[in-house]
Amino acid sequence: MRYDDVLGLIGNTPLVGIHELSPNPEVRIFAKLEGQNPGGSSKDRIALKMVELAEKEGGLRPGDTIIEPSSGNTGIGLALVARRKGYRLRVVMPENVSVERRQLLEIFGAEVVLSPGEEGSNGAIRLSAQIADADPSLVPLFQYGNPANPLAHYEGTGPEIWRDCPEVDVFVAGLGTSGTLMGVGRYLKEQNPSVHVVAVEPPSGELVQGLRNLEDGFVPPIFDPDVLDRKFIVRPRESIEWLRLLLDRCQVFAGVSSGAAVAGAAKLANEMSRARSSPCCPTAGGSTSRPARGPTTSTRSSSAPRRSTTGSRPDALADCRRDPTRRGGVAGRRPRRLPDRNRLRPRR
Ligand SMILES: Cc1ncc(COP(=O)(O)O)c(C=O)c1O
Repeated sequence: MRYDDVLGLIGNTPLVGIHELSPNPEVRIFAKLEGQNPGGSSKDRIALKMVELAEKEGGLRPGDTIIEPSSGNTGIGLALVARRKGYRLRVVMPENVSVERRQLLEIFGAEVVLSPGEEGSNGAIRLSAQIADADPSLVPLFQYGNPANPLAHYEGTGPEIWRDCPEVDVFVAGLGTSGTLMGVGRYLKEQNPSVHVVAVEPPSGELVQGLRNLEDGFVPPIFDPDVLDRKFIVRPRESIEWLRLLLDRCQVFAGVSSGAAVAGAAKLANEMSRARSSPCCPTAGGSTSRPARGPTTSTRSSSAPRRSTTGSRPDALADCRRDPTRRGGVAGRRPRRLPDRNRLRPRR
């Protein structure tokens, strides 16, 4: 593989089997390693697409400053793309995100504006809008409402999954802006209407970095409930437990939101009474921390030259001792908003 530019490395991430985490021997689970994008998460895809679309539509010109609320990954993706393309970037992020993220943004030349930590990502969205309103020279891309966000997944992530796993029955992903679920979900359903699209969200008021509960006061404008078949609530602690299992049993390193997606996929697999060949495809690898490079406990062993590592976060993992796969499965919760007919039915 050879590329003239680091932006060429965005997308085309691998699917890897994590079948050891399926409580149902008839159901296989695959994870899409989005952490292997050059900025370390799937947000590289949407950063590039949002910038390209803004350029095409004339909303972004050389030397402009982009402003974006982000809990980290979109900011990092945008910082990479903006720096390559010669734009300035201001990222509004909650003050309690990790120092490593801020440092990485600053290394890429982005300016970081901190919003109150207790207001979470909604606070960053509010402050970013206020700053953009007060300074019309700033260019807000606004991932929560930008059609380029789901489009990046519709044109990239979805077709990649379909290419690598045409027998897919269920797609599971964490819900943040909802761009992944909307874009991949639409694409997969167009290929096979019986594919189930399942969102994972934290309980209202609880934090899984990068994800949101739609009842927490803000529904992203790009969200379309018709694309979803079901939602699962996954608690922060559960996300970390499954993240640890992903590492321990499959030697796949990812971020906490990926732990949530894997937890959701395992719950679904447990419910599926029969499956010919039924992979669930959680996206994994969206790093939630950008630790210093160097000797860490990361077990990533890929030797693929084009990929960056996402590093590890042993501190986040240290306190997990319970093993959810030994509980005889975890009963899936009924979705709170989606009608009962949307419950996952095993396919015959
Ligand atoms: C680490 C991480 N995982 C998952 C997501 C959710 O993806 P999406 O925004 O496409 O819903 C996000 C979104 O910010 C994220 O930062």
